[in-house]
Amino acid sequence: MMKIILGGQWGDEGKGKVIDYLAGKAELVVRFQGGSNAGHTVVHDGKTHKFHLLPSGVVQKKRSLIGAGVVLDPRVLIQEINEFGGLTQSELGIDFRTSIIMPWHGLLDIAREGLKKEKIGTTGRGIGPAYEEKASRDGIRFCDLIDEKKLKERISEIYPFRKKLLHGIYQVEVPEQESIFMQYANIGKQLASYATDVSLEVNEAYAAGKNILLEGAQGVLLDLSFGSYPFVTSSQTIAGGACVGAGVSPKIIDEIEGVVKAYTTRVGGGPFPTELLGAEEELGNTIRDKGNEYGTTTGRKRRIGWLDLPLLRYAHRLNGFTGFHYTKLDVLGGVEKLKVATAHEHAGKKFETPSREFEFLGEWKPVYKTLPGFEELSREEWREVVRESKEKGLKALPKNAFEYIKFVEGELKIPTKTVSLGPAREETIFVNH
Ligand code: IMP
Ligand code: MG
Repeated sequence: MMKIILGGQWGDEGKGKVIDYLAGKAELVVRFQGGSNAGHTVVHDGKTHKFHLLPSGVVQKKRSLIGAGVVLDPRVLIQEINEFGGLTQSELGIDFRTSIIMPWHGLLDIAREGLKKEKIGTTGRGIGPAYEEKASRDGIRFCDLIDEKKLKERISEIYPFRKKLLHGIYQVEVPEQESIFMQYANIGKQLASYATDVSLEVNEAYAAGKNILLEGAQGVLLDLSFGSYPFVTSSQTIAGGACVGAGVSPKIIDEIEGVVKAYTTRVGGGPFPTELLGAEEELGNTIRDKGNEYGTTTGRKRRIGWLDLPLLRYAHRLNGFTGFHYTKLDVLGGVEKLKVATAHEHAGKKFETPSREFEFLGEWKPVYKTLPGFEELSREEWREVVRESKEKGLKALPKNAFEYIKFVEGELKIPTKTVSLGPAREETIFVNH
């Protein structure tokens, strides 16, 4: 069984947690796009793991793969492997084609952002410049990193141009060529044993009837082509990106599940129609603190907003979701009235799913449905809800929390797979279908 897990909004939906519990029944977990701009949090056994590059399946001790569609910062990877306490070559594999992030990529990312009139809010991890270099066919790949001779050749070929660019245009100093080579050759030696053919492994595992999870990073609305351009990341975050990045045929994808936060957040710049601003800003601050809505990678405050059904319908059109995992419903406890955008207006026209209107995302006026809120429960009370859910399913939720999920489910007609009521693996309601 091949299942893709994607962020249904602007990232930070809680994919790490969802992947972690789904990984219990999987044999392979594969990251297929993005890089260390991602921040996936997994809480288990009282321990909080924060991953930028490692697939979240490592906590469940499942073989974890990094596919060719990823841009990999090997310095971050080594740090993460060490923090995790080491990973053997049977626990981690990296596609030999994976693009490598080099020191000039981060420098370029930050220098360019600095000159932009409207900031994208890049994480500055070199993601965009690394994908550019890949597309211009200059990039260094994992198979080059782990072969000293090739690495030397590749660095000699591109370094002088990167140095000129950074120095001449942006007045930024780059470390010396030889020191970069020495550092990366050494890193290459440490990582060499992880080299594999992810596409082959995934296809073989599928043919052998194994369960495979393809773990997305960021979210649909940050997709390079279909997101809120230019306020997007530089990879394909939609379902098609999983096939491109892991090297599998769309014909063998069985399930495509979205992770959707019970409200919406966005970090960085760009339009956000349902953002809690003005009179609602205080409430936004409360939700931010209760939900710990601060970036895993950058620590930045996330912007907070109401759930947006037209954007979820748009996401569904791009992905063909077969199910949703709702996260952080507990965070909305104690909010008196819950608003959900059911449509938007633009240029005097009301619409439920955007088409050309998407171009004017920043000008949308949300049309809200207001639902009654539910009470704030303690961690222990939420855990009691989870225990009861084993018999009652979603009906174990406080009545208005149940109605909230049912309303959204009824509008979108996408089956609910799980509802998450806390950060830990156990704090989850599984819905049987
Ligand atoms: P970049 O991919 O680091 O260049 O960032 C581009 C935009 O995507 C910025 O608005 C970031 O805040 C956003 N972004 C990138 N990665 C993530 C993520 O994992 N979660 C949420 N937002 C992200
Ligand atoms: Mg995140």
